[in-house]
Amino acid sequence: MSFDRSLLQVRDLRVDVGARNVLKSVSFDVDAGALVVLMGANGSGKSTLGLALAGHPRYRVVGGWARFAGQDLLSMSAEARARAGLFVSFQAPPEIPGVKNNLFIRTALNAVRDARGEAPLDAFDFLGRARDASADLGLPEAMLARPVNDGFSGGERKRNELLQLALLQPKLALLDEIDSGLDVDGARAVVQLVHKLRTQGTAFIVVSHYLHLIESLAPDAVLRLHEGCISEQGDLALARELARSGFARPAEAQAV
Ligand SMILES: Nc1ncnc2c1ncn2[C@@H]1O[C@H](COP(=O)(O)OP(=O)(O)OP(=O)(O)O)[C@@H](O)[C@H]1O
Ligand SMILES: [Mg+2]
Repeated sequence: MSFDRSLLQVRDLRVDVGARNVLKSVSFDVDAGALVVLMGANGSGKSTLGLALAGHPRYRVVGGWARFAGQDLLSMSAEARARAGLFVSFQAPPEIPGVKNNLFIRTALNAVRDARGEAPLDAFDFLGRARDASADLGLPEAMLARPVNDGFSGGERKRNELLQLALLQPKLALLDEIDSGLDVDGARAVVQLVHKLRTQGTAFIVVSHYLHLIESLAPDAVLRLHEGCISEQGDLALARELARSGFARPAEAQAV
């Protein structure tokens, strides 16, 4: 992988959560516009990796480095990372009572637009775009006027993450089990949105346990997180092997 094409480079990343060292030495690259699938057993640290890259204060980086779009990612605030074009979806999107969804997303979008040198969208223009994107995602328009995720079902929360993704159009999106809890139409909407954004240059890190979704996304690379490191790297054949044999398969069966 050439140095120049790398949108994200992560080297020897070490992350502690609470008293535990979850990531011991994680290294990988994501090229601009590429789609990388991240697999790993429950508790292996996939969400930890995403939240550490996003700058969540609970996930303490204690070693290594990461460069994103030519900048030292780990020295940036969470807000600066988002403005630079990084988007990380929540595995379990939280409620934000009292903050209206449309205002929340418009504020985030205008911050990102400002960083891209684009003019802010007024409430009218924003609403037009948000309605179109909501319709594409099968999210009832009324959810735009409600507090963020307040009373949303599990699948509606995931669709609301996708709405943010569709509107923000980041350089790199990490989708953490975006398909879990989504019905068949929701899963189809994920694939359609990912394909659409990829044609516009967005790169993806997709965390998923489901081979069907992984195959639909035609990944450029498949990574396995195991014991705090990227222990295996391959293509769809690796995803199929892990789906078939499980994460506890014997070492001798592992791909080289
Ligand atoms: N706040 C915390 N305090 C202590 N341990 C934590 C905390 N948050 C996460 N962990 C631990 O870190 C480890 C990695 O968790 P993480 O959520 O990153 O795993 P994951 O690979 O995303 O798993 P899953 O497939 O279930 O989503 C787990 O053992 C988890 O218990
Ligand atoms: Mg997780």
